Amino acid sequence: MKKMIVGLLFMAALLSACEKQGRDEGMNRFVSDLMGKMTIEEKIGQLNLITPGGGIPTGSVVSTDVEEKIKAGNVGGIFGIYGPEKLRQAQKMAVEESRLGIPMLFGADVIHGYKTTYPIPLGLSASWDMDLIERTARMAAKEATADGIFWNFSPMVDISRDPRWGRVAEGAGEDAWLGSEIAKAMVHGYQGEDLTSPVTMMATVKHFALYGAPEGGRDYNRVDMSRYNMFNYYLPPFKAAIDAGVGSIMTSFNDVDGIPASGNRWLLTDLLRNKWGFRGFVVSDYTSVNEMIDHGMGDLQAVSALSLNAGLDMDMVGEGFLTTLKKSLEEGKVREADIDKACRRVLEAKYKLGLFDDPYRYFNDERPAIDILSAENRSLAREAATKSFVLLKNEKQVLPLQKQGTIALIGPLANDRNNMLGTWAPTGDPQLAVPIFEGMMNAPGRQAKILYAKGANISDDPEYAAKINVFGPRIMIDERSPEMMLREALSVATQADVVVAVVGEATEMSGESSSRSDITIPEPQKKLIRALKATGKPLVLVVMGGRPLAMEEEHELADAILFVWHPGVEAGNAIADVLFGAYNPSGELTMTFPRNVGQIPVYYNHRNTGRPNPGDTFQKFRSNYLDVPNSPLYPFGYGLSYTTFEYANLTLNSSQMAASGEISVSVEVTNSGQFDGEEVVQLYVRDMVASVTRPLRELKGFQKVFIEKGATRKVTFTIKPGDLAFYNYDLEFVAEPGEFQVFVGGHSTAELTGEFELLP
Ligand code: BGC
Repeated sequence: MKKMIVGLLFMAALLSACEKQGRDEGMNRFVSDLMGKMTIEEKIGQLNLITPGGGIPTGSVVSTDVEEKIKAGNVGGIFGIYGPEKLRQAQKMAVEESRLGIPMLFGADVIHGYKTTYPIPLGLSASWDMDLIERTARMAAKEATADGIFWNFSPMVDISRDPRWGRVAEGAGEDAWLGSEIAKAMVHGYQGEDLTSPVTMMATVKHFALYGAPEGGRDYNRVDMSRYNMFNYYLPPFKAAIDAGVGSIMTSFNDVDGIPASGNRWLLTDLLRNKWGFRGFVVSDYTSVNEMIDHGMGDLQAVSALSLNAGLDMDMVGEGFLTTLKKSLEEGKVREADIDKACRRVLEAKYKLGLFDDPYRYFNDERPAIDILSAENRSLAREAATKSFVLLKNEKQVLPLQKQGTIALIGPLANDRNNMLGTWAPTGDPQLAVPIFEGMMNAPGRQAKILYAKGANISDDPEYAAKINVFGPRIMIDERSPEMMLREALSVATQADVVVAVVGEATEMSGESSSRSDITIPEPQKKLIRALKATGKPLVLVVMGGRPLAMEEEHELADAILFVWHPGVEAGNAIADVLFGAYNPSGELTMTFPRNVGQIPVYYNHRNTGRPNPGDTFQKFRSNYLDVPNSPLYPFGYGLSYTTFEYANLTLNSSQMAASGEISVSVEVTNSGQFDGEEVVQLYVRDMVASVTRPLRELKGFQKVFIEKGATRKVTFTIKPGDLAFYNYDLEFVAEPGEFQVFVGGHSTAELTGEFELLP
């Protein structure tokens, strides 16, 4: 019987491989045929991606003469226009009015929801819930395709250890293992099983590579990194997305080892294609080809040729390819074979999406009303938000809030719509967002009286506000003086049993081009928090942010802190669900929260020094600071629940692992508190002796489990030699025999430990 099943499985695999080969052959034939009819100008035209504006133009240039270019066959794809009607019109121009009728790609940045905005990606990653993440991506694909968009500039998988960098909001935090799992979930969510389906979209993994490590945390800045760090920490999520079948990849703005990514042949050809076997197409970032002029790589013709020769297939907005490649070909600076390769890859993407069968397959006028902002989608956005929140402190069980009595709801973000969606939500409508005040008022079973006061501005500085308000009013400076607002807040607070202050960052204080050198809560809000504390009332902080914030003072002052990122369109409802206990928080940080900016970079999987200081007390001639401990404010993986979890009985099924074997690690987790709840059980490994310095610990597994109060659950992990492998000095991926230590617990400083030996 077993033999028969194995035989059947084998046959099925063989059939699917044959089917794929047949499909590939069909595609090759079709594309070769088409390319046989194309002029060199038409081939170069396919490499041109334009935007007529309408989205977020993130550079100073937007495309012009769009219609003429489409009809002339000079456009391979467009982004930043939406809706079946408009897109049908544009597609019609390409299909009916250009010589060969090649359909265009329609792309967009659908970063955390299309119109039903869910939490920023960093928040979503804190759910550690891969099924949820995949479902949100699928929902985004369904909404975006309903509006005609079938190529997405997501997921962003840039690992970052620097919360000054505003774009940490768009990623999955600091860890390569978790980041890889999330990359896979998102690619599956967007692309599904069938790219020709009208509800799936092609994903783009970005920004290749190392964009999350700019010097000083300043966006678009230089990057300088060892290959060891690249291969072990910054590249794995890209590899994971590629292995998951991602259709396209976007280059980054920064240089990699001295050569800008968009023109870096080692990156785009040696590594991406030759080593990793990537078969999709590579698109530049917004004008990143042209920006190589400022990098000092030559004029537009030179940088365009450099990019093509490096392996870039499509040029976003800058039109360097369109305007110079033919000349470079005539002058022998590029080869026709390389233009052909790039053109082929773009056409293959169109083929895979089914556009040559039906270029209008995504344009159905009925779909927007049915698929966008449906009740089902909003409910998923609410679920995603509740699961993204991280409870950082909860003294004396201030939370969950009582549904009786009087609650003072105070703060510049407490009754606000404009800052709920978060950065990079160009298709979301802030006016649809549920403010926290509204969500709390509507909470089922609420009898508590809720008194509201704004209390402070997000910032009092009009110049700063102007920088933040580029996409609409985010920081609204009140007509009243700060003193008047504070007085009102205090009078409200003194009437209440508990104070809930909603503070933090406006949406555009994080995100692209929003780096900060000071990542504390802005001073007017700090003053408010201090004054509220002085009333002696229990103080709950609900903190919004697109990045880890340095909140040492707030940690001291508050009785409870719930970190809610930017939660999306269901913000108020989700926050009310958690504050009143309808949902028990289960989020855990995916990025370390520093005590202060001077500790950055601070991340959990650091290598040891030769002079470590394991404690937090200063020791002369040890690696530490005079003025701040080495430990962060909140470590990676940290997050509380309304209940408590206790870990016991860590056992390994063997003390030795054969070179081709595996080992299992189990632990018992008891819910020892008063609420049912979920816990992210995390497994970390340390390689005790190796040929290169290895981190003190690295995440190698996690399971999110639900445990009823009073119950105990056994959680088991399997470790294989591949999980112990790393890129060594020669960049070979190897597991080195020897001693390993494992740690299991609820965060990266978990203490329960065991050992085993990997045999040669
Ligand atoms: C960003 C990309 C984005 C592109 C298109 C750029 O500025 O870096 O992440 O996909 O704009 O909107």
